[in-house]
Amino acid sequence: MDKHHYYRDTWAEIDLDKISQNIKSFKRHLPEQKIMAVVKANGYGHGALQVAEEAVRSGAEWLAVAMLDEALALRKQGITAPILVMNRVRPEYANLAAENEISLTVFQKEWLIEAQSHVKETKHQIKLHLKIDTGMGRVGFKEESELQDVAHFIKQSSVFEAEGVFTHFATADEWESELFEKQRKRFIKYIDSLRTWGLNPTLIHSANSAAALRKVKGPFNLVRLGISMYGLAPSNELKQDLPFPLEEAFSLHSRLIHVKKLMPGDTVSYGATYTATEEEWVGTLPIGYADGWQRRFSPGASVLIKGERMPIIGRICMDQCMVRLPKRLDVGEVATLIGSQEAERIEMDEIARVAETINYEIPCLISARVPRVYTKKGRILENMNVILNF
Ligand SMILES: Cc1ncc(COP(=O)(O)O)c(C=O)c1O
Repeated sequence: MDKHHYYRDTWAEIDLDKISQNIKSFKRHLPEQKIMAVVKANGYGHGALQVAEEAVRSGAEWLAVAMLDEALALRKQGITAPILVMNRVRPEYANLAAENEISLTVFQKEWLIEAQSHVKETKHQIKLHLKIDTGMGRVGFKEESELQDVAHFIKQSSVFEAEGVFTHFATADEWESELFEKQRKRFIKYIDSLRTWGLNPTLIHSANSAAALRKVKGPFNLVRLGISMYGLAPSNELKQDLPFPLEEAFSLHSRLIHVKKLMPGDTVSYGATYTATEEEWVGTLPIGYADGWQRRFSPGASVLIKGERMPIIGRICMDQCMVRLPKRLDVGEVATLIGSQEAERIEMDEIARVAETINYEIPCLISARVPRVYTKKGRILENMNVILNF
């Protein structure tokens, strides 16, 4: 490679074949459903563009993001697949969305009135997905009367097209949840009502990864896949009983930049929270909390070097952290913080457990300082270095 894409000794690898396998597994699992690949938050930290391209190549027909900026970025980068913005976009930007063939989410009548007032001349209809709050308590129409008003408003308008209707489950990742069933039934009732009022959106969707894995029943024709497309289970509960294996796409690596011997009584890092009790070897890795390798990961997290587990010791600094080595190792040795080395493996879920959080949070927070390396069939396809902008 004649051009260096990054110069630091820390990088994330995203195996696009894994994303593809996960999507293909879902297509076999739910052959009747369209797949909407959720690539918000830079594709849960994996890279929105690369994941979107791979998802579409593998059979996803739709993409979803949280905000208009994310959708426009994908359009600028050449993505032509339909995109849904799942959160509220200011009504004055509805035209901009329509011009870029971006579908918007609506859950307020006032939004429609205001959006319409901004339309002077548009060749493009504003495509809408109506969001229903069936129990998530976040955003969505709740009152049937308001929904009825909105249905009539959209029907008589030449500006809007009701392309879809959707809801979001709060507890689909728990096997025994009354709320899940309640939300499912409520949503079906709302769809029936919409039909009675003469509104027949083509796309009807409720399932996130958890609901898609458990094949939620209803007149639905699209599933919105986020976490499981990246190969991660939506919860530990569902992980025990997956209908097919999920393949983790994200791994994180660094290299030893310094190796030293500690004497008994020597301490490591801020606050001197780690004290050597005997002569021991310690290595330094150039990754820290500014990279998303968060302070709360230590003590608890380990790394793999030469296929062996070694604990992170002392406090994680902004740009570096320390590892206890079983013996003297060479500077330059690769350390895997998430992923596999030989027979050993550190799953994303292990880091989430240490941090007492969910796996979603871990890759999302791996920051732009960490270059992303994309692989396919074991070969490097592309490098992405956000801070150097190439
Ligand atoms: C409305 C909506 N649909 C779908 C998803 C995807 O969920 P998951 O990552 O659990 O598949 C999200 C993610 O938070 C969401 O907010």
